[in-house]
Amino acid sequence: MAEYVVEFGRDGRPIEADGRLDAAAFHRNHQAIRAVLQQFLAGKSGDVVEAGSGTGQHVVDFARHIPEVTWWPSDLSEQHLKSISAWRAHAGLANIRSPLRIDLSNPEWCAEMHNGSGPTNLLAVFCANVIHIAPWRVAEGLFAGAGRYLRTEARLFLYGPFKRGGKHTAVPLWAVQARRQAYRAQQCSVR
Ligand SMILES: C[S@@+](CC[C@H](N)C(=O)[O-])C[C@H]1O[C@@H](n2cnc3c(N)ncnc32)[C@H](O)[C@@H]1O
Repeated sequence: MAEYVVEFGRDGRPIEADGRLDAAAFHRNHQAIRAVLQQFLAGKSGDVVEAGSGTGQHVVDFARHIPEVTWWPSDLSEQHLKSISAWRAHAGLANIRSPLRIDLSNPEWCAEMHNGSGPTNLLAVFCANVIHIAPWRVAEGLFAGAGRYLRTEARLFLYGPFKRGGKHTAVPLWAVQARRQAYRAQQCSVR
């Protein structure tokens, strides 16, 4: 596993026998995130790709509450792809596709995005808590792929900590530093 990839399950939360991982943050943020997507997707049908899905919990929540849309989870990590598949099987929802193996540092993302076997009517790409933990080339690849695959009226949604004018807008600096130390302790890194 790449050194910057978060390993869910290392925070003491149990891993289900089928491989389902549980992210603490999901329980805090999923309703607020879903509300924003619901607003944009109201009255639309088509495909949404989630980039860097992690455990797979968000995509299940989206698919359950926004059933007109077909959801395409994705990740780079084998353990996370397994968790996404396990959550997908557990949910039993018809509007979640098998996870795509997308390495966002590759601007083409994956073959399915352009060979007709993946999403064909892309309404949006959603990406949470990825670009601040990964090397900058991952953000560059995310934007390059979004620019290539999203139509003009489609949207890229990003969730995570951001700076404006050099200052963190979402969380106090001490919290970011504390998280950085915590991740370092787990051999991960946060910029
Ligand atoms: C902090 S987790 C966030 C997971 C999920 N989006 C969430 O908010 O719960 C970061 C995710 O980014 C994924 N990731 C890191 N580098 C990546 C890359 N180059 N391409 C695709 N996914 C990547 C990791 O495997 C991990 O699942």
